[in-house]
Amino acid sequence: MSVSLRLVILGLSLFLLAKGVEGQAEDGTNDGNSTASDPKDDGNDGGTASEMISDYYNFEWRDHPTPASLSCELGNAVARARSLPTDGPFQTLPTLIDITKSIYDNVTSLKGKNITLVTKLNKKMRHDLRTLVANLKRILHDYKEFSEDFNFIERIMKTSRHHIPANHGYADVDVYLTDVAALFHKDILWWKLYESINGLYNFGKTLKTSLSTVYGSIMSQKAQTRMLKIHNKMASLQMSVIGISSDVLITQTIAERFLDKHGANFGCSGCLDPTDRYCLKGICRPGFIGYACQLENTDFGTCSRTGSGRVRTFSGSVFNPDQSDTTALIIHNGGAFLSFSISDVVFIDDVPVIVVSIIEEVYFLMANGTVQVNGVQVDLPMTKIHETPIRGDVTVQQKNDALVLQSNIHQLRVELSTDGANDVSVSLSMYWKTQIFGKCGNFN
Ligand SMILES: *[C@@H]1O[C@H](CO)[C@@H](O)[C@H](O)[C@H]1NC(C)=O
Ligand SMILES: *[C@@H]1O[C@H](CO)[C@@H](O)[C@H](O)[C@H]1NC(C)=O
Ligand SMILES: *[C@@H]1O[C@H](CO)[C@@H](O)[C@H](O)[C@H]1NC(C)=O
Ligand SMILES: *[C@@H]1O[C@H](CO)[C@@H](O)[C@H](O)[C@H]1NC(C)=O
Repeated sequence: MSVSLRLVILGLSLFLLAKGVEGQAEDGTNDGNSTASDPKDDGNDGGTASEMISDYYNFEWRDHPTPASLSCELGNAVARARSLPTDGPFQTLPTLIDITKSIYDNVTSLKGKNITLVTKLNKKMRHDLRTLVANLKRILHDYKEFSEDFNFIERIMKTSRHHIPANHGYADVDVYLTDVAALFHKDILWWKLYESINGLYNFGKTLKTSLSTVYGSIMSQKAQTRMLKIHNKMASLQMSVIGISSDVLITQTIAERFLDKHGANFGCSGCLDPTDRYCLKGICRPGFIGYACQLENTDFGTCSRTGSGRVRTFSGSVFNPDQSDTTALIIHNGGAFLSFSISDVVFIDDVPVIVVSIIEEVYFLMANGTVQVNGVQVDLPMTKIHETPIRGDVTVQQKNDALVLQSNIHQLRVELSTDGANDVSVSLSMYWKTQIFGKCGNFN
């Protein structure tokens, strides 16, 4: 097959030519019909525009059965509590607390304010949730104490240098103070903080004993008092950190038990990974958004391109791209499975073509009604079924005067008119907002 991609300027004259040809074919015939065998669609042929629109919305975008869930959000929040990190290379104490706070807010607002949900919870569930909430609250309480101690130490540190002379000859004192100061480094990891505080507490204890006899000669009374205060606060900091750690462990255990006992009632749908019942990984199928993937976004946007090349973006702005601009209409780079691209009109043997790349297939939708997949001409309608990681399919069919490609995996629909107008229209889930680029824009 010889594929020649030409610039739009050449396409324009072809478009005009095609327009002329189309005049003769006005009486309902469709030259794309010749390669299409579309028994399923016969009943729909000749549908009005409004029928087409309702057909579009009736399309089964989401073919996963949605299990009845009392509250996916609640299940998700408890699952997040189960996964609270006790340590880990990416975890700082403030982020641990932020997560805890958001889980606490989620659970309390769901179980407190949502009457619909509350009436559905049985006594055992309510009891278990109360225990969970109490523990989440304790983490936050321990953190409050921790912060107070922390701020206290920070205040002393600010003036300690003033009172402790630089050249007192005891390097250990300097190391100790430098290490204490390092605790205030914002990005310090939670597990390192834990280690550091314990280390500093022991260090401080050694200093206290080994230097007690010489403190008097090297430092003022004020400096001694400050060193002692830091050391004492370090002890209480250590206690709060131990408290937080054990509360986190208990919370995890309670959450785990809740999910074992009641979890089946609180599943989420829309998780990209079918084993991820609560969408904990935060990766939802297209058309679903949020941590808890049940928060469906059902909005779609439309981008269109007329035969003359004028583009109406998803956000509604209209422009005429430079004719030498061969940028695709839409590109999403999102890994092997979710990546897709929809080209601008290109020409193959003078026939306007839209090239749609999805997963491992490259679909050529040709304005003369022919469709090729990976270089092979196919009969319509056609369906390509995918099993993992999302079960779904890509279909191509001739509908009225257009070739229509739909992917319920990507939640997109591409139409190329076969009546000679060469109009292109792309409907896309708002899910892709800001994740795409190309002539159609990104919904912004
Ligand atoms: C498809 O072609 C058949 C005959 O080849 C014709 O009867 C039918 O009207 C055509 N359908 C459309 C939608 O043009
Ligand atoms: C309450 O929860 C139910 C399901 O558990 C949900 O459908 C509903 O939207 C929630 N109502 C409010 C006000 O959050
Ligand atoms: C629950 O948590 C999520 C993620 O942090 C947040 O987007 C959502 O608004 C919270 N819902 C409630 C009811 O607090
Ligand atoms: C449509 O155009 C392509 C590319 O030139 C060609 O391979 C195919 O045979 C044409 N189909 C029809 C029905 O003319």
